[in-house]
Amino acid sequence: MNITLENLTKRFPARGRKAQGETVAVKDLSFEIPDGMLVGLLGPSGCGKSTTLNMICGLEAPSEGKIFFGEEEVTHLPPELRGVGMVFQNYALYPHMTVLQNILFPLENLKGEERPSRSEMRERALETARLVQIEELLDRRPKELSGGQQQRVAIARALVKMPRVLLLDEPLSNLDARLRLQTREEICKIQKKTGIPTLFVTHDQEEAMSISDRIVVMKEGVLMQQGRPQEVYDNPANLFVAKFLGTPPINVLEGEVSGGMLRLDGQPVLPVPGAEEGPVYVGIRPEGFRPDADGPMACGLNRVEVLGRETSMVCTHPACQADTLRAILRSEEEAEAQSGQVRFSLRPEKVFLFRRSSEERIRFDCPARAGA
Ligand SMILES: Nc1ncnc2c1ncn2[C@@H]1O[C@H](COP(=O)(O)OP(=O)(O)OP(=O)(O)O)[C@@H](O)[C@H]1O
Ligand SMILES: [Mg+2]
Repeated sequence: MNITLENLTKRFPARGRKAQGETVAVKDLSFEIPDGMLVGLLGPSGCGKSTTLNMICGLEAPSEGKIFFGEEEVTHLPPELRGVGMVFQNYALYPHMTVLQNILFPLENLKGEERPSRSEMRERALETARLVQIEELLDRRPKELSGGQQQRVAIARALVKMPRVLLLDEPLSNLDARLRLQTREEICKIQKKTGIPTLFVTHDQEEAMSISDRIVVMKEGVLMQQGRPQEVYDNPANLFVAKFLGTPPINVLEGEVSGGMLRLDGQPVLPVPGAEEGPVYVGIRPEGFRPDADGPMACGLNRVEVLGRETSMVCTHPACQADTLRAILRSEEEAEAQSGQVRFSLRPEKVFLFRRSSEERIRFDCPARAGA
């Protein structure tokens, strides 16, 4: 079953005497969660991620637009009839109930034919608890658990009734690094096993990239880009998306296209056939630098960080927006520094041009770039 969002807009009215105008939390948002897929929804704080989830589960009514579960329109269906499992950003467990009772709760609330027998409920709750590795904690109350354990109880509670859709709002934020990795793999596995279409909110782009079949990037309530993670990384639609994806982040420089050449600080550094002429922002991925003693791009060298498989060179360049830029080289590649300078040539498929005014991407002919 595909989940479809069609032109969703959510406006919150201004409140209080000093309030200035309404907030448009989500603006004309359309995307799909295809059946069986895990879609990562990402964007900076306040961009409308939770609001989007709340509209899908029915806690907020959209101001405009429609929501479909398969063929069925659910825009005005009450939350309890939607069959949505949700883990909230501030997942609230029932404090007076034990872990087991918390997990059982959604099943006990089912009505009529949907309601399983007592023993079946218990069986399913135990199975779900095992899935998220909290079977030893079933008799505790939430305040006797760590943040990460509480989070896993919340995930179990969302999964136990085999929802039609699973919505996870930053479900891993309280876990330590190792548990976070483990839990996200677990979520991925559970999702693949059950095939439940899932929307996973995070502002951690690396997390989104690593577990999502598709990602949707939002900014200020507006969809910036969607697609397969690698596709979006390799072909960002605008400067915002280019900057948002990738660790370490993309290097941004101010440049100029003239005579079919990209120029940085006046120096021609890369042929960019077909590109519109004029001033541009230039995004260069850290892996876009190739050490080259005769290369066109000269940088000052601040320091070299050897990281085993790769070497990271922290450099300076007059056209760079930040104080330094970062080049990541495979450790077998060597860049020779001479009197504090290194020279690079650029891998064209790792270089992106953006219009200065709109920050939209400017294309140039680049045979090495897949799908450009
Ligand atoms: N009930 C509400 N009334 C008024 N404004 C709201 C309400 N809920 C959210 N907003 C506003 O809508 C915008 C989007 O909020 P939302 O909670 O969807 O962001 P988010 O992407 O989930 O952010 P975060 O990553 O911080 O959780 C914000 O500007 C927020 O202040
Ligand atoms: Mg949120």
